[in-house]
Amino acid sequence: MLVRLIYASYSTTDLNRDDIAQILRTSQKNNSVKKISGVLFYSDRYFLQCLEGERHAVNETYLRIAADPRHAKCVLIDYNAVPSRLFPKWAMEHASFFGGLDNELIIKYTEMGVFQPFHFTPQQANSFLAEVAVIAATLDDTVRRSQQLILRKN
Ligand SMILES: Cc1cc2nc3c(=O)[nH]c(=O)nc-3n(C[C@H](O)[C@H](O)[C@H](O)COP(=O)(O)O)c2cc1C
Repeated sequence: MLVRLIYASYSTTDLNRDDIAQILRTSQKNNSVKKISGVLFYSDRYFLQCLEGERHAVNETYLRIAADPRHAKCVLIDYNAVPSRLFPKWAMEHASFFGGLDNELIIKYTEMGVFQPFHFTPQQANSFLAEVAVIAATLDDTVRRSQQLILRKN
């Protein structure tokens, strides 16, 4: 059974680009073996992560992630059986917001410009990810390899 798990958490220290890159390297290595796909957001010390894949693989991975001391307060936002993946090509990518008030996604999914994933309802989180997936599908491998999906209006 294919499932999608979405959770929010808070980093225990202020992580820099290298720290995130390190998390992504490990994630991509492990997730490709377990056929897990997804996306990781990090902003204002908040994480929002989406993991999709076979139920057992996702459950096992989530338990491992939740025990990681680099973040705390993991809160499950949604866990559901899904018909297909939103991020079929991504073993795990980092996405972040591009600062600027003209950004539709920022206006829609932040509170005064601050990303507050703990406040997301399951519906909001899913529609946010669905919008990100549309942007993701338009990106070529060059952008993907930069390990940074910048969310901005075209
Ligand atoms: C916010 C966050 C997200 C993570 N996402 C993943 C992930 O998607 N897949 C994964 O295998 N590890 C992820 N990790 C790392 C795990 O917590 C753990 O360190 C790692 O899986 C251990 O792998 P290793 O035994 O190969 O070193 C994440 C860690 C953090 C802090």
